[in-house]
Amino acid sequence: MSEKIIVFDTTLRDGEQVPGCQLNTVEKIEVARALELLGVDVIEAGFPISSPGDFHSVVEISKAVTKPVICGLTRAVEKDIDVAAEALQYAKRKRIHTGIGTSPYHIKYKLNSTPDKIMERAVAAVKYAKKFVEDVEFYAEDAGRSDNEYLARVVEAVIAAGATVVNIPDTTGYCLPHEFGEKIRYLMENVSNVHKAVISTHCHNDLGMATANTIEGVLNGARQVEVTLNGIGERAGNTSLEEVVMILKSHKNLPVYTEINTKQIYKTSRLVSSLMNMPIQPNKAIVGRNAFAHSSGIHQDGVLKNRENYEIINPKDVGIKESSIQLTARSGRAALKHRLKILGYDFSKDEIDKIYDRFLALADKKKDIKDDDLRALVGKAAREDRAIKLELLQVVCGKSSVPMATVRLKINNEIHSATASGNGPIDAAFTAVKQLVKRKVNLEEFLIQAITRGSDDLGKVHVQIENRGKLYYGFSASTDIITGAVEAFVDAISKII
Ligand code: KIV
Ligand code: ZN
Repeated sequence: MSEKIIVFDTTLRDGEQVPGCQLNTVEKIEVARALELLGVDVIEAGFPISSPGDFHSVVEISKAVTKPVICGLTRAVEKDIDVAAEALQYAKRKRIHTGIGTSPYHIKYKLNSTPDKIMERAVAAVKYAKKFVEDVEFYAEDAGRSDNEYLARVVEAVIAAGATVVNIPDTTGYCLPHEFGEKIRYLMENVSNVHKAVISTHCHNDLGMATANTIEGVLNGARQVEVTLNGIGERAGNTSLEEVVMILKSHKNLPVYTEINTKQIYKTSRLVSSLMNMPIQPNKAIVGRNAFAHSSGIHQDGVLKNRENYEIINPKDVGIKESSIQLTARSGRAALKHRLKILGYDFSKDEIDKIYDRFLALADKKKDIKDDDLRALVGKAAREDRAIKLELLQVVCGKSSVPMATVRLKINNEIHSATASGNGPIDAAFTAVKQLVKRKVNLEEFLIQAITRGSDDLGKVHVQIENRGKLYYGFSASTDIITGAVEAFVDAISKII
């Protein structure tokens, strides 16, 4: 039978501890509401004694969110527990999370104590918290580096004192996955009353093993996972919610499930990232910009034939509309044709071949080709047949030089050249073009616009000219704005002819 894994989200506590990620109460409520929609079971809303702001946030989140359990963190100190209980007074379902360090490092160097005294403080803290709430979670800080035999005795004692959940944090992110799994298994097999509580994982990512350790914990008996959105948290962060949830969902043979509404993952991840000013690395599993983007020609072709050739998760399952085929110099014709089709263009094989050559030329200059670039490219191909074509353009310009332009045009299959000066390279080139076409044209409108961003961008040029009282419109796009301007001018003049 499949067993439920309780998802305990600590984005607002361990995640929010990160310098620069602090949220105000209104923002915390917004995140808490999003976490409720996401379907997390427990929200660790803060560490109430740490500051009046944290206290206030726990109070307000307790009022605003009703479905998940609201949890407040404390040390194994009575005053902390008093303040947490007060902050949680409005919570419909509440939990106090208290604890103390159990590793030799913490016992000796942080707490200047002994294992027996720590055991007494742990038990006393749980008993004290029980006076305020039924649901008490105990954390054995630095359990990852704690001696298993001593840890088992502490866990047994706190469960006997009334702890409903016992958290086994790998506070420093040191454990190897098999070691962490064995630790959980050891507790499951050696704590006589372990069935009276839920064992929880709380892993940090200092060596990049937080997700692997959490999964090992679950495979060995843990039934609660402590996680954050986007894996944010102290130092290298905590276990990321989206990774654990999607691992458990994707591996259907595992005897466990979560009740997370996975379609909310992407939205919630973006909300947390933007409110906390914490950009998501592009290759971050599940929620990174590139997590569902295919850029090599072989992969793109494979995905277009069958998504599952290169995707183990349906992007829709995490709330992303579709995987993206990134058009770059490594893309093939299949990807180009596919994107053009989405944009409403249906070209023959020969036409695609022509557009593909232009596409590669552009992709060599511009790393990432966007839809607007493609539209411009297609428009350019359609203008192939016009009567006047720009064959060559050379300009001289710059500080302390007279702007000059040499233009060579093919007009009805005959080559004509002219050189002119102007108040800038575009003005000089337009003058040369006018000399060659022998038409009186007035420039009515001239607009250059960047399509996306960056100095490697395509510039879109719109031109409107007047000839004998009639207006003609020309368009072009190029990474070279002077060439683009002249192309657009020639495009408009072609229409007169
Ligand atoms: O990493 C840790 O040990 C913690 C505890 C306070 C639960 O965050
Ligand atoms: Zn932590």
